[in-house]
This record gives sequence, C-alpha cells and structure tokens, in this order.
Amino acid sequence: MTEPADATLAVSCRQVRKHFGDGDQRIDALRGVDFDARLGELSFLVGPSGCGKTTLISVIAGLLDRTAGELRVLGSSIDDLPPRQRVLFRRRNLGFVFQQYNLLPALSAAENVAVPLLVAGEPRRTALDRAGALLHRLGLGSRTAALPATLSGGQQQRVAIARALVHEPRLVVCDEPTAALDHSNGEAVMELLAGSAVHPGRAVIVVTHDSRVFHHAHSIAHMDDGRIVSTTRAHDVPFPGPHPGVLGQRAPLPTTLSEASA
Ligand SMILES: Nc1ncnc2c1ncn2[C@@H]1O[C@H](COP(=O)(O)OP(=O)(O)O)[C@@H](O)[C@H]1O
Ligand SMILES: [Mg+2]
Repeated sequence: MTEPADATLAVSCRQVRKHFGDGDQRIDALRGVDFDARLGELSFLVGPSGCGKTTLISVIAGLLDRTAGELRVLGSSIDDLPPRQRVLFRRRNLGFVFQQYNLLPALSAAENVAVPLLVAGEPRRTALDRAGALLHRLGLGSRTAALPATLSGGQQQRVAIARALVHEPRLVVCDEPTAALDHSNGEAVMELLAGSAVHPGRAVIVVTHDSRVFHHAHSIAHMDDGRIVSTTRAHDVPFPGPHPGVLGQRAPLPTTLSEASA
C-alpha cells in the first residue's frame, strides 16, 4: 500500500532497508529507516560512526540501491522512472558532497565546480564565471586556478561543496561537510547550505558530528544501529546559537516529477 505523497516533504523514507553481502558476511546497514526531510529546511542526520548515515544518504541520493522499503524524493518514487530518466532527474535535482571530496585531479578548482553546469550544457565562460563567484563567497577567490592537490583538505572540501551547489539543485545531500574546517569556514559553509535550503522548493540534508553547527538545523534526526531513533525539531531543542527562524514562513509547493524536472 502506498500512502499519498506529502507535498511538504523533499524526502520520505519508510522502512528502508539495506544490507551488504550475504550469509555470514551479511551486514545490515539500514534496518527499517523512517526518515523525512522537509522542503525549505536544513535537516541534520547525526549518530555514531558505523550506524548507517552514509549508507542512508547514498540511498536517498540514488548512489546505492536499497534492499527494501519505500523512498520518495522531491515528490517522485524514483523506482517508477526508467533508468535514463533517473539519471537526468538526479543530475538536475541533486547535489552531493562526499566524505572524500572526489574532485577531478586534472581540473582546476573553478573547473571542478563548473562541472555540473558544463554537463547541463551551460557555455564554458558562464559556467566558469558562476563557479568563480561561488568560490569567492567561500573564501577561495584567490585559488580558482589551483589544482586540488595543491589545496588543503579544508579548501578541497569547500570546492566540493561549491560543486554540489553551483547548479542550484533542489536537494543537496552532504556527508560531514564541516569536518575539515575551522570555525569560521564551517560557519560560512553552513550559511551557504542554509541559504540553499531556505527556499520553498528546496532542501538540504547534512550528516554531521560537528555540534558547533547544530544551531543551523531545523530538525535533527538521531540514528543508531541502522534506524532513526528520535527526531528533534528546532523549537524543541535548546540550540546554542541564534536560529534563523524560518519555520512557518515556508510556502509549500506541489512537487510532481514534471515540475521537479522542469
Ligand atoms: N560497501 C560496503 N560493503 C560492506 N559493508 C559496508 C559498506 N558500506 C558500509 N558498510 C557497513 O555498513 C555499516 C554502516 O556504514 P556507514 O553507512 O558508512 O556508517 P556511518 O556513515 O554512520 O559511519 C557499517 O557497519 C559499515 O561497515
Ligand atoms: Mg559515514
């Protein structure tokens, strides 16, 4: 039985399961995950190492297939799409920041960031200008021509984040995006992510251990041993810092596939 889609949700997981391997070697990484991420919000996913966070966001982003359960992303059940459509849907609507940045070593910082625009057919000059402007906002204006190997870990992480945001995808999924950053760069990254999420048709999901950035979250889902064990909403949590307070200002959008891919 399929429930009707909730138009305020960017992501909805119901009893999602994923195992790796079989027999004695089988690892149940996701053991029936119920998880929602709302449109217009920055949703955090936290939990101990090995509890399944990376597996869950990889399933949500379509980088891994789940073993069982229901998954809706931006109003669509991804399984209903033919493979080619699935690729286009992801390319247009999703940005992913990996734990290992996955930058292309032979391309400059700006060229790496420009990749999603070039793939979408944007002229090279425009793509590089937009990439450069975003790098500038992230404090990397002087390193746009640098190759990844010449950048620090924190700088590479910011390039990876810029690459995930540059095409203004509706859903951005980030694995530990501030882990390698000092406080002020971590704040700059979270402000950029929050700015991307606080938009009626968009959402950002962030996996993090970094309690310094918790005050940016609209909701925090706590994961343990392959399940979501509790979820706190911003107004339930004694947040350490000022909260952007966008709850209630969100205008829910209908999110059918045709609109999402328009
Ligand atoms: N490709 C894989 N093959 C086998 N086991 C895996 C694979 N990816 C993750 N796992 C296992 O699944 C569990 C959850 O891993 P992961 O999602 O990476 O956790 P987290 O991101 O919370 O640290 C761990 O036991 C991990 O060893
Ligand atoms: Mg992980």
